[in-house]
Amino acid sequence: MNVLWVFAHPEPRSLSGALRDDGLRTLRALGHDVRESDLYAMKWNPVAGAATPARVPTRGELSPDVVAEQDKLRWADAVVVQFPLWWYGQPAILKGWFDRVFVKGFGYGVRAEDGRTLRYGEGRLAGKRAMVVLTAGAREPAMGPRGVNGSLDEVLFPLHHGTLFYAGMSVLPPVAVYGADRVPDDRFAEARESLRERLRTLETAEPIPFRTQNGGDYDDDLVLRPDRAPGAAGLGIHLTPAG
Ligand SMILES: Cc1cc2nc3c(=O)[nH]c(=O)nc-3n(C[C@H](O)[C@H](O)[C@H](O)COP(=O)(O)O)c2cc1C
Repeated sequence: MNVLWVFAHPEPRSLSGALRDDGLRTLRALGHDVRESDLYAMKWNPVAGAATPARVPTRGELSPDVVAEQDKLRWADAVVVQFPLWWYGQPAILKGWFDRVFVKGFGYGVRAEDGRTLRYGEGRLAGKRAMVVLTAGAREPAMGPRGVNGSLDEVLFPLHHGTLFYAGMSVLPPVAVYGADRVPDDRFAEARESLRERLRTLETAEPIPFRTQNGGDYDDDLVLRPDRAPGAAGLGIHLTPAG
């Protein structure tokens, strides 16, 4: 497979950097072709311009750094997005990568011939896989279903559902290293091994079963039909029930 690794950490000698280095080595050893977008090393400009275009910009209207990232995404079969959790979300440089690269006609605003908007499971990036790798200061129970941080699934919903799946990608369960501010050698070895294992199954792992927009679950206002997850609300209703 062609794998693009997007890395958003300012310090290559960090825990994140060590996991990235091992992850890239693992992918190459597995025979994958790998490219990287190391956003701090590239001095990526995360600030989008003033105007949101009313129409799809042509390739010539996009700046070369954006075109280069879109070309990497077109090339990729799978994208790994790695970052430390900062204030419940992505570092600004990574948010700005999505803001500038996932422009109209590429990440959103993609239409089918019949005029339907293709999003949430359909779109330019459909058929590609995505997997988040993150480190978080919080310990695992504090990011569980009743943890004070909110559960990891909820914290990642804007990125998983609102960005990657929105643009069409199949989103794999994330790889998370909790308690990441103090990681003794044995826990580092464990984290490295679980990342390796997840990279081995990058091609085959089951994606998170988000409901597709056009699969019949939503009405014309994009509200989940009353007979799906009846009476329930919250982010979890957008998952197809297991079994
Ligand atoms: C600006 C900033 C914001 C942070 N916000 C969070 C947070 O919201 N939740 C959390 O669990 N950890 C948070 N942390 C802790 C980082 O996630 C943690 O330091 C990092 O993942 C450790 O990995 P590293 O050594 O590779 O940077 C934050 C750290 C910084 C510097």
